[in-house]
Amino acid sequence: MARTVRRPARLQATIQVPGDKSISHRTAILGALASGPSKVRRFLAGEDCLSTLACLRALGVEWQLEEETPGVATLELAGVGLRGLREPADVLDAGNSGTTLRLLAGVLAGQPFASVLTGDASLRSRPVGRVVEPLRKMGAQLFARDGDRCPPLAIRGGSLRGIHYRLPVASAQVKSAVLLAGLFAEGETVVEEPLATRDHTERLLLSMGVELRREGPGIRLTPPTDLSPVDLEVPGDLSAAAFWLVAAAAHPDAEIVLPKVGVNPTRSGLLDILSMMGATVELTEERMVGGEPVADLTVRSSRLRGVEVAGELTLRAIDELPALAVAAAFAEGTTTVRDAEELRVKESDRIAALTVELRKLGVAIEERPDGFTIEGSAGGALQGASVNGGGDHRLAMALAVAGLLADGETVVEDAEAVAVSYPGFWEDLERAGDLS
Ligand code: S3P
Repeated sequence: MARTVRRPARLQATIQVPGDKSISHRTAILGALASGPSKVRRFLAGEDCLSTLACLRALGVEWQLEEETPGVATLELAGVGLRGLREPADVLDAGNSGTTLRLLAGVLAGQPFASVLTGDASLRSRPVGRVVEPLRKMGAQLFARDGDRCPPLAIRGGSLRGIHYRLPVASAQVKSAVLLAGLFAEGETVVEEPLATRDHTERLLLSMGVELRREGPGIRLTPPTDLSPVDLEVPGDLSAAAFWLVAAAAHPDAEIVLPKVGVNPTRSGLLDILSMMGATVELTEERMVGGEPVADLTVRSSRLRGVEVAGELTLRAIDELPALAVAAAFAEGTTTVRDAEELRVKESDRIAALTVELRKLGVAIEERPDGFTIEGSAGGALQGASVNGGGDHRLAMALAVAGLLADGETVVEDAEAVAVSYPGFWEDLERAGDLS
């Protein structure tokens, strides 16, 4: 499916972005392991989280999902307890979702049965060696394709022992896989991370009664006897809000309000980067929702300037870098993003794909091994063109935002990919730009 986008004279809306994808996955997986029923509001009913739910059903977990608006749902889950999962009768399909595959690998490593995880062509080309290594150290047997590098991933779980593991890459998925396996292990599990990655798993585990402590770079988990059910609302997804933050900041006449968006400091890099670029983003009503900090965000047209992004700032904005690249095209001066080599192993090689697709719109972007450099200009002067999301949801949405700011018409091919994380994206775009 292709969608055509052009620049509206004004961009104005209040947009309820769907619930956070990372948190939605975790509430489903941990809710399934709780002793009793859980209820999750503003659960993201996007394809990735539906993959997690389908895998959980195949493992014997009952749930019901009621969708209120596209992608926004209430999830009710009947937790089976820490020892209640059943051996699946078939291969588990994680679809396009790295979080589903890697987090479930941690859970399955602790189960007394065999299982196989696979996914679509994109996921089957992404690295799993990073979870195979620590889960083997804990005592599970794991085998993967291409010398244990890529899915499908076969797991024979069993009695695990807690380990002290230092992550070779700063990855919240790997950290979470080890912590989830740690729930089933004998003795304590300690995970040390080189840089602080998103901490949603730790926050949720704590709220479910697990003894977990942060000690310097380490997170120490004591295996619980059971998990209390959850009853919470998922904060809005900052990674979805990112597209509106960039669209409004770079558009000459815009104001967008985004209520109740998660602003967890391990995820809020884009807010810091936009502020360094001179964007007007106001945070109001800062409060806690579901154990996570949230705020209402208001973003207005801004004069942007180029910035240098590296180190922990890159990590704290890793999923927002495609959107940031569009902001950079509208910023006076040079923007350089470094230390983002992980972008090459996301749903697509986002560095290569961004370079190819943004060039079609006239963006002066140069690929770097670990990121990109963009020569921007205030006002942007992008030319509409036909671009392709290549099946990557965040790329498709970043290109749509570029089209919303470019002269002329932009056709975004593979537009349906947005359903992975933001099923209502095109409707919200039409409303914000009054394009209907
Ligand atoms: C996620 C962690 C990040 C992020 C991904 C979601 C998570 O991946 O890019 O979109 O939910 O834990 P890595 O753990 O591979 O860095």
